[in-house]
Order: sequence, then C-alpha cells, then structure tokens
Amino acid sequence: MPLLENVINEISQERLWSRHLQLAEIGATPGGGVNRQALSREEISARQLLVQWGSPLGLVPYSDDIGNLFLRYPGKDADAAPVVTGSHIDTQPTGGRFDGSFGVLAGLEMLEAMHAAQFKPERSIEIVAWTNEEGSRFAPGMMGSALFRGQRDLESTLQVEDLAGISVRESVAAVRAAEPDIASRSLGFPIAAYVEAHIEQGPILEMQRKIIGVVSGIQGKRVFRVTVEGEENHAGTSPRALRKDALVASVDILSALHALTHDPDDTVKFTVGFLEVSPNAPSVVPSLVHFSIDLRHPDTEILSSLGDAIPALCEEHRGPCNVQIKELSNDPSLEFPAAIRDVIRDVVVGLDIAHMELPSAAGHDARHLHYVCPTGMIFVPCAGGISHNEAESCKAEDLFNGAQVLAGTIARLADQA
Ligand code: GLV
Ligand code: MN
Ligand code: MN
Repeated sequence: MPLLENVINEISQERLWSRHLQLAEIGATPGGGVNRQALSREEISARQLLVQWGSPLGLVPYSDDIGNLFLRYPGKDADAAPVVTGSHIDTQPTGGRFDGSFGVLAGLEMLEAMHAAQFKPERSIEIVAWTNEEGSRFAPGMMGSALFRGQRDLESTLQVEDLAGISVRESVAAVRAAEPDIASRSLGFPIAAYVEAHIEQGPILEMQRKIIGVVSGIQGKRVFRVTVEGEENHAGTSPRALRKDALVASVDILSALHALTHDPDDTVKFTVGFLEVSPNAPSVVPSLVHFSIDLRHPDTEILSSLGDAIPALCEEHRGPCNVQIKELSNDPSLEFPAAIRDVIRDVVVGLDIAHMELPSAAGHDARHLHYVCPTGMIFVPCAGGISHNEAESCKAEDLFNGAQVLAGTIARLADQA
C-alpha cells in the first residue's frame, strides 16, 4: 500500500518532539514537569495551542457539555462513524511531559502526515483530548470519557467541586466561554474504532528492550473517598480518653487497610495519595480527615472482594469518630478485542519494530471507549517506568515509532467502509 507508506514516511520526529516540549511549557513546574489541572487556565491555553496547530490542516474543532475537545479530519464519507484517537492533556500536580500529551500529539502528528501525503480515508478521523483524565482536581478521573460512554450522570458530575469549592460546571463554562468559535456537539456519538497511544508508565517495555507494547487490556480499579469526623478540642487540656481525634482514627483505619491489601506478590495495588486534616493546627485535636483510596487488581473478583471489605473495616477501626465511605468509581478489568490488537501488531511487524503484548496497569480513557466501540492501545517505553513524576522521560525516537504505528493503525481502520 504505497499511500500508507507515504503517510508513515511523513511522520516527523523533530516536529513531534518539539511539540511535546512546547506543550510542556504550559504549566511547567520548576522541577521540569508539568502541573496542568483539568479545566484550568493552563488547560485552556493548551487547548488553544492544539486548535492552532490543527488549523493549517483544516481540522475542525468541536467540544461538548463536559469540555471534551475533538479535532476532525474529514474522510470521503462524511456520514460514516469516525475513527478516533487521542488521550488527555491534564496532568497530575507533579506530572510529567508525556502522560496523556503523547496520545494527543501522536494523533496530531499522524494527521500532519496524512495531510502531507494527501491521504483521504473512507471515514473521518478525529483526535480527542478527554476532560479530566487524571482526577486530581476533580475526583474521580476519566470524567470526560466516562460521560461520553454514558456511565456517569452529567448533572451530578457538573456539581463536583475542587478543594477551592469551584465546580466542574463553572470550570467547563469558563473553558467554553474562552472558545467562542468552537462548535458544540452532543456528548456521545457513534465511533467506528478508538485507539489510544500512551507511554507505558511502567518498566516492562524498557526491561524487555521493546519499543512498542500492544496492550492486551486494563486492570480493574476502585476509587473511594473516606471522611472521618471527630471533635476539635484543646491539645493541652482535653483528656485523651475523651478525645474524638479524627487523625488517630484515620491512622488506625489506614493501618488496617494496609494489612487487608498486603500482598507478597505485589499484585494488589493500594494507595492513599490524598489526605487532608482539619483544622490542621498544631494545638487543636483534629476534627476532620478526608482521604482517598486507589485500589487496583487485574482479577476483578479479587478487586471486588477487597473493595467490598473496605466499609466494614473502616467502621471497625473508627474508634469514637464517625466515618463515611463514598465509592467514586468501580471499573472491572477488561481485555481489548483481538481484532484491534491484530491490526496494531500487523502494522508493527510491517515496520519491523521490537514489540510485545502487555496489559496496562495504569488507567486510561480507552477503558470507557472499550464499551463504545472496538478499542485498543499502543504503548511506548518511558525511562525507568517512572510516571506521575516530574522526572518522567521518554526518547524522541520511541515517540516517533509510536506515532508511526498509530498512523498505520488508524489509516487502516479509517479506510474500512
Ligand atoms: C491514570 O492516570 C491512572 O491513575 O491510572
Ligand atoms: Mn494518562
Ligand atoms: Mn496519569
């Protein structure tokens, strides 16, 4: 297929790399990473840059009720369901330059190449930046893709607030107001196929000296928010036996949860990454603690039984305090369809790039698209498997290879009637 080769030959390593560096300037941290929170001023600037990059290619931008941003490359049949690729451009507070950004910029690079090669597929192709994948400002994450799938309810999602009390509703309105020329479209529409490129965020590809990972599926994940309520009192005068110390109760609960999820095989992943103590004053007995629970396991049954045990364990260890447990999301493990994996593998073999199949231990928007249309993922390595860290780092050549594989895969899928 000479036209397909032309497309792949037009992928530019330099342009792709320099765009990663330019995008990473928006929200750059002193430590060399990125802090670009969902629906923030920084994310508005990053979206503007994407739209600006897409403009010479004739890409038409659209946005929806949660702010998902799509850029459309028209195919021959305007009515056919598009093939979609992309990821997210929000980051963790101490995020890196590649998590999410790679999937969006690889999609853009692919469209640069298709445009240069004058490749007009049967179906339209769209790249997407999903809203709030990370879930650090507004919990839980993968908000845009979960709503697109119809797994969550729009109204209750719009009411979610960040720590400053700013709602998703206000923040989406600010984003949309900053983009008066971007047309609205409905949340959720038919898609022919979805393929997301992403950095692995783990050490396997690097350890195995492979450049491309054909992702077999995504491990299950449950997310909880726990609130422990006690009573403020004087640190010097209140008798210990009468105290309702929310932090002491939380420490008890946390050590019981750590024991529950202890796994010598290191397959159970249990993380409390957020903890807030009020009033957070040295001489006041803490009256209120909020903390997060991120629980993951590839076996959905084990994930279910561990997650189901959490409320009772919190109750058992709450001491004189009250405890409330809210489950924010519960997503089982999933396996991507063989048909999409086969297309990706075929393209990788054709390009003669070292590859392997592996599951994703991290979560991705592809999890929700899996329930919308045939879905797959392409991984590239990152140094030492380090991610959700300012030091996250990738090789320009690996990103280039990943974009080539994405271009070949999407071109094939979009050229099918
Ligand atoms: C996604 O960012 C995850 O936490 O897996
Ligand atoms: Mn990501
Ligand atoms: Mn992430």
